[in-house]
Amino acid sequence: MGKAASASQRPEAEGAEAQGPAGGGVPRHVAIIMDGNGRWAKARGLPRAAGHRQGAEAARKVLRAAGEAGVECLTLYAFSSENWRRPEDEINDLMGLLRLYIARELGALHKEGIRIKILGDHGVFSPETARMVDEAVAKTANNQRMTLAIALNYGSRLELVKAAQTLAARAATGEIAPSDIDEAALEASLDTADLPPLDLLIRTSGEHRLSNFLLWQAAYAELLFVDTLWPDFDGDALRAALRAFAGRERRFGGR
Ligand code: FPP
Repeated sequence: MGKAASASQRPEAEGAEAQGPAGGGVPRHVAIIMDGNGRWAKARGLPRAAGHRQGAEAARKVLRAAGEAGVECLTLYAFSSENWRRPEDEINDLMGLLRLYIARELGALHKEGIRIKILGDHGVFSPETARMVDEAVAKTANNQRMTLAIALNYGSRLELVKAAQTLAARAATGEIAPSDIDEAALEASLDTADLPPLDLLIRTSGEHRLSNFLLWQAAYAELLFVDTLWPDFDGDALRAALRAFAGRERRFGGR
C-alpha cells in the first residue's frame, strides 16, 4: 500500500481501535474450527460419533475458559454447508449431539448470561432440531455477558453471496445507491454483523486451512494452527492460545 494516502483515505487512523486489540490484550472474539474428532476416535478404536461426543465436551470446557478469560464472543464451527457430504449416519449423530447439547446446556448457559447466536441457515434442519435451536436463541437473546455463536450449515462464500444479494436488492429498489455499497455496508449484511471484530481464529488437528469459514471476518484476524485434536483441546489449551495471541503484534496493514 502506498504511504502517501490523503487523510480522507485513512479511516483506519480513527478506526483502528474498533478493529480489536493491537496486541498484548485479550481477544474480544475468538473463532474455532474444531477439527480432529474422527482421528481422535480412530486412534482409540472408537466410532466417529464418540469423537464428536468428546468434541462437544471440549466445546463446553473451552466456552467456560473463554468466559473466564474475558473473551466477549466465541464462535464455533459445528457444521459446515459442506458437511452434508458426510454419511447420513454421521450427520444424524451430529444433529443428535446438537440437540443433546442444547437440552443439557441451555439452562446453565442462560443462567451464566450467555447469548446464543447462529451463523448460517439452520432452517433446513429437521423441524425438531430447528425448533430447539430457535428456542435456545430466543431464550438467551437478551443475555449480555458473552456470546456463543454456533456456525450451523454455514459457509462463508454463501454468506457473502447473500450479503451481496441483500445489498443489490436494496439498490434495485432505490433504497440505497450502488455507491453506498462499501465495506461497512457489506459487513453489516453478514451473519456476524452484531459480533465484535474477529481477533483470533484457531484451527485444531494440524490442518492449515480456513475451509470456507469467516473468510471476510478473518481479513485481519490472527491465525493459530495447533496440532491438538479437538476432543483433547481444553481450558489449558485455550489459555495457551490466548497467550500466543497476546504475544502477536497486530498492525492492520500499517507498520
Ligand atoms: C471435525 O472433525 C468436526 C466436525 C465436523 C463437527 C464439530 C462438532 C462438534 C465438536 C460437536 C458438536 C458441537 C457443539 C457445539 C454442539 P472431523 O470429523 O472432520 O475429524 P477428522 O478430520 O479427524 O475426521
